[in-house]
Amino acid sequence: MNSLTNKNIILGVSGSISAYKAPDIVRRLQDLGAQVKVILTEGGAKFITELSLQSISKNKVHYNLWDEDAELSMGHIELAKWTDAILIAPASANTIANIALGKANDLLSSVILASNAALLIAPAMNLKMYQSHALQDNLLTLISRHAIIIKPESGEQACGDIGIGRLVEPLSIAKQVAKQFISTKLTGKKVLITLGATIEAIDPVRFISNHSSGKMGMALINACIEMGASVICIYGNITTTLNEKSNNMPIISAQQMYTKVMNNIAGQDIFIACAAVSDFSVKNTKNQKIKKDGKNLILELIPNKDILADVCKLGKKPICMGFAAETQNTLKNAQKKLKNKGCDVIILNDVSNTDFGSNVDENEVVFLSQNLNKKIAKNSKKKVAKKILAIFIKEYL
Ligand code: CTP
Repeated sequence: MNSLTNKNIILGVSGSISAYKAPDIVRRLQDLGAQVKVILTEGGAKFITELSLQSISKNKVHYNLWDEDAELSMGHIELAKWTDAILIAPASANTIANIALGKANDLLSSVILASNAALLIAPAMNLKMYQSHALQDNLLTLISRHAIIIKPESGEQACGDIGIGRLVEPLSIAKQVAKQFISTKLTGKKVLITLGATIEAIDPVRFISNHSSGKMGMALINACIEMGASVICIYGNITTTLNEKSNNMPIISAQQMYTKVMNNIAGQDIFIACAAVSDFSVKNTKNQKIKKDGKNLILELIPNKDILADVCKLGKKPICMGFAAETQNTLKNAQKKLKNKGCDVIILNDVSNTDFGSNVDENEVVFLSQNLNKKIAKNSKKKVAKKILAIFIKEYL
């Protein structure tokens, strides 16, 4: 399945009568899962309004290279970095010539020069203009620079002529954009991931927590997003950067994480419990700072609910992957967790070795399921995440 889930697309709209189809192109790209931002050229603005493109794309339309406010918020370099592909539809003869010459005289041409993203061009113009040597030479130049030309169709043209030059239908254009991205068995799947450390308050200034950094969970999120999954990230305390393409939901305590997971788990295909959830919370959290009085202080802790075990008990449960952080009898304990929690996969993490596990950049794990016991050798968490998902896809998707 070709999909644009997690993909950012810039749609350049230039001066052609078929610019009226641009809102439909935006829709079709969105239907495939893309976020779309439109750049309107001066010519394009003669045929379609900024307002209609803004309403459909739900993003500000960009058109002016010299707009100081735009440069402050999202200038041409930011747009170039943001996008995964640039589609020009309709592409006029003038815009095509501009790009072939490598000019940077308007916003669209400047963004194209500043970007390494795939470039797709859907020409639309009168047949004589399309067949002209100049236009065809420009297209060949762009093809030699790896641009993809979405060849126009034949038919009756706005000017009354009959022949090649009509803009391809929006759905077909959107599908050609999607084809530029590799699709995997995770493409279009819904994944909910918990990560980071939960925090249990003792009083307004003190708490119980753990050393989890969230790095392993984040590596899994990044890999899932790269493979086209749509991800909900429910995170506690983390020391790593969030991926802006996931739906990020912060929590503090284990109870909050439990509620957030249960409220969002319906319809998810895969649940990955990577969070280091506190097994206990403080029975009587104090509203005021506890003062020392020279005597021992006894905190009463009450058990928290097990999120992973409860998700595994759901009637329509997703495929569940948990982590087992162990310091002794690691394999035995992890196998026990696999069975007791009722999950499909447990990733065993030996946290007695400080070289890997929590709060470091590398990890070494064992992928455990009912039929499988596969060691994934020490590597960066990014590479380990990819290996975990590769085995997971092979076994379950
Ligand atoms: N987990 C969870 N909810 C909890 C506790 C743990 O969802 N209240 C999940 C973790 O995210 C992890 C797995 O269960 O995927 C195992 O967590 P771990 O801390 O290794 O084990 P515990 O179940 O807490 O058991 P113990 O601390 O006794 O080893």
